[in-house]
Amino acid sequence: MDMTDVAQDLAAFWMPFTPNQQFKKAPRLLAEARGMYYKTPDGREILDGVAGLWCVAAGHCRTEIVKAVQDQVARLDFAPTFNMGHPVAFEAANRLAAITPPGLNRIFFTNSGSESADTAMKIALAYHRARGEATRTRIIGRERGYHGVNFGGMSVGGIPGNRKMYSASMAPGVDHLRHTHDLARNAFSKGQPAHGAEFADELERLITLHDASNIAAVIVEPMAGSAGVLVPPKGYLEKLRALCDKHGILLIFDEVITGFGRMGTAFSYDKFKVKPDLMTMAKAINNATVPMGAVAVRQDIHDTVVGATAEGTIEFMHGYTYSGHPLACAAANATLALYERDRLFDRAASLEGYLENAAHALKGSKHVIDIRNIGLVAAIEMEPRPLGKDGTGGPGKRGYEVFTRCFAKGVLVRATGDTIAISPPLIVEKEQIDRILATVAEAIKAVD
Ligand SMILES: Cc1ncc(COP(=O)(O)O)c(C=O)c1O
Repeated sequence: MDMTDVAQDLAAFWMPFTPNQQFKKAPRLLAEARGMYYKTPDGREILDGVAGLWCVAAGHCRTEIVKAVQDQVARLDFAPTFNMGHPVAFEAANRLAAITPPGLNRIFFTNSGSESADTAMKIALAYHRARGEATRTRIIGRERGYHGVNFGGMSVGGIPGNRKMYSASMAPGVDHLRHTHDLARNAFSKGQPAHGAEFADELERLITLHDASNIAAVIVEPMAGSAGVLVPPKGYLEKLRALCDKHGILLIFDEVITGFGRMGTAFSYDKFKVKPDLMTMAKAINNATVPMGAVAVRQDIHDTVVGATAEGTIEFMHGYTYSGHPLACAAANATLALYERDRLFDRAASLEGYLENAAHALKGSKHVIDIRNIGLVAAIEMEPRPLGKDGTGGPGKRGYEVFTRCFAKGVLVRATGDTIAISPPLIVEKEQIDRILATVAEAIKAVD
């Protein structure tokens, strides 16, 4: 069979988080990328309004990163990190520890955000056990939270569609805070909404219910990304931090989306001034060149786990064959150097106001019930289309149509339900922000 036929047969690839039947009837394919643009197989340029999937922060195919990976694969393709080491992984850990919040300077490598979430949860349990508080096993997540698709992250996550089929198989011993979305009070807020700090008080209620002696950690995204860009209300994260401190509970920030400049700072700690005890990372860690994730851990948490076991014994029974993979680490080292050289996090901060104004200019458009923004992220929420008697319409349909119309006009955005998210690479130019928002506005106007 000739290779063109192989490429054109779309049946074998069971695509993730995709309506496969629909996609395969009308596929959207990307064949090349450079800077701010993708190119389709027929040569059409697509302006990337979402950094791939929130992950290509420095723009596509950056020469420095490509070269670092090419050199690395020719020098050392793979080396195990179980009982062996290689310099590139240690360098990547040191580089990360230099930009993570002060004190969170021990780095565990994974291959994805999902693995990072589960790893952080296991570290939290191992820590309490090592301290002699083995009853602290419960982990509190949040409605509308997304921590990937593995059993741990899914269980503390709060996206109903992801959980529905696996209800009976959730990790035991979890509970959830309510989400922070409050359209009635906060619609069209710029930056952090004014109302909702008190949603964090619910943690006190859950602590009373379960008892602090049974709770290991709270895990939240500082800004919830996948459930439609929910910006933390003013004072909310501070309250969570204070309650965790009061009750000896670890606070895990899932920074898979918010890390590496997306908030206009290295991590959301630098933006919101609330420091977690553990922090998960993945997207943008190496510009998405090679799958990679990581967990940054407070040094004393690491020391407690590692110190609880006799020398010569594995202290933390966890790891992935590809933890600290040479190619992923080489890409991370080159990416982190590039972020620093080009001051891309500052660049994102300098564009925050511009994106804010461009997005909020859509206020008043038909269907639009909210516009939210923080850092280099903006979201436009539309009212769901009513569910018709014939089964058409319903939540998500408008969002999907806006997304496909934008793609037809040469702009890639992300639709989660009826919310359109915009999170371009940090190298985006103002005219490109204008074009992304103009295309979204036109698409919204065109849908019923
Ligand atoms: C906050 C958060 N955590 C975890 C994940 C899962 O990451 P991955 O898809 O790399 O497993 C995501 C992905 O969108 C995410 O946004």
